[in-house]
Amino acid sequence: MKKTLGVFLSMFLVVGLLAACGTSNKGVKRASNEKNVLIMGTSADYPPFEYVKTEKSNNIIGFDVDLANALGKKLGYKIQVKDIDFSGLIQSLKSGEVDLVLAGMTPTPKRKKNVDFSDIYYTAKYEIISKKGSGINTLNDLKGKTVGVQLGSIQETKAQEINKTIPIKIENRNRIPDIIEEINAGRFDAAIIENTVAKGFLTKDTSLTGFEISDKADEAGSAIAFPKNSDLTSKFNNELKKMKKDGELNALIVKWFGGTVQQ
Ligand code: ARG
Repeated sequence: MKKTLGVFLSMFLVVGLLAACGTSNKGVKRASNEKNVLIMGTSADYPPFEYVKTEKSNNIIGFDVDLANALGKKLGYKIQVKDIDFSGLIQSLKSGEVDLVLAGMTPTPKRKKNVDFSDIYYTAKYEIISKKGSGINTLNDLKGKTVGVQLGSIQETKAQEINKTIPIKIENRNRIPDIIEEINAGRFDAAIIENTVAKGFLTKDTSLTGFEISDKADEAGSAIAFPKNSDLTSKFNNELKKMKKDGELNALIVKWFGGTVQQ
């Protein structure tokens, strides 16, 4: 008798739980437990998009963080930033670990199969960087050289593409500062990095030099990524459109990238 009662009670519990899930599923599932908080995944190795200014604090700052906060505020969300290696970001959206990704991420056709993207909010180009005096001034000079790229990035794909016509040795690392270190240690001859990010490293380290290789301005541009079919995509994109129109985005671009305004 006791046993049947137990079974009956647990069945009741299961039904109750299922019902509860049913109701909560009407709202869209979020990574955060708090209703008005969204968890933003990023890879904080990418100044001025996202980085840690260690002398000041361990906070992640940058253009993407400001942009996420501005968009979140308009939509009534607080943004919590989570640092994840770049190559793990798409998976973190798929597994529900984060609600959105701002990481200077380019909306490639391959990524679009797994996640949804906003419009592009900043355009970029590919740049080859190396030690001054390395003699690497054109793509052809890369022949036989060791070229560093960030794991899982479009720069890695670009290196593979280059390798089809100009044989190079491709090496990858998880974090951009590690790639710079390898160049300075003489283990890498060059690296492929987004132009605006390269600019920052080149200003800080005057022993480095670089040249751009892109022809199309937006082939390496950045967009916000969301889980597939998230209701957040259109909400954020609408606000992003408004920020582009009213100059708020330009103000952020000027703040983080300096004088030149581009979209
Ligand atoms: N735009 C490039 C890509 O999507 C590189 C982005 C790297 N971002 C970063 N936070 N490390 O592949």
